[in-house]
Amino acid sequence: MIAPSILSADFARLADEAAAVAGPAGADWLHVDVMDNHFVPNLTLGQPVVEALRAATDLPLDCHLMIDDPDRWAIGYAEVGAHNVTVHVEAAADPVGLAKNLRAAGAQAGLSLKPGTPLEPHVETLRHYDTLLVMSVEPGFGGQSFIPEVLGKVREARRLVDTGHLRVLVEIDGGIGIDTIEAAAEAGVDCFVAGSAVYGADDPARAVAALRDRVREVTPHRWTP
Ligand code: DX5
Ligand code: ZN
Repeated sequence: MIAPSILSADFARLADEAAAVAGPAGADWLHVDVMDNHFVPNLTLGQPVVEALRAATDLPLDCHLMIDDPDRWAIGYAEVGAHNVTVHVEAAADPVGLAKNLRAAGAQAGLSLKPGTPLEPHVETLRHYDTLLVMSVEPGFGGQSFIPEVLGKVREARRLVDTGHLRVLVEIDGGIGIDTIEAAAEAGVDCFVAGSAVYGADDPARAVAALRDRVREVTPHRWTP
């Protein structure tokens, strides 16, 4: 799966930018980065914009909340129709209760780890989640360089899923482009977030297709026709 991040899109034309990656060979999800200027040193958009986007596109919205106190705020994103709501384990007080609330509100629940946050202490928590978002840059800004050291966490998560210990979809976010997606695919990622590599391209839809083709080349055994 490819999830373009609208952080690198034109914020004045979000509906058009969503449409630019939609279509049969296009994006699987649209990744929406919510930042509060507290958990990360940047400020983007919030629930009203997600609600407006929901009405403007059929693409499932993958909301990545880089915010403090997700225990309080995450539920609102499920209520306005986000498909998947990801919170940061470093910010959540009760991640298990939070996942239950998100699912009860009709969304999938996602848990994200910053590059320096280990996976092992959170494996039991992840049994309550649908997606694991491994950050491959420090959260806060698009266009940063991929941190390859996080692939150890991806491999471990892949192993836990393949052996039936976890049921999460493994997602990666940060610095993913045509040169880095191969290593992430080989490590076992299911869903690739890409901001600048998609919206920085002349043709965003072609960029999505090129990323997917590269994944299929390196991991043909993981694709069913
Ligand atoms: C960064 C965000 C990412 C960002 C990725 O904090 O979570 O989703 O959009 O952008 P690129 O793909 O440019 O690294
Ligand atoms: Zn993100």
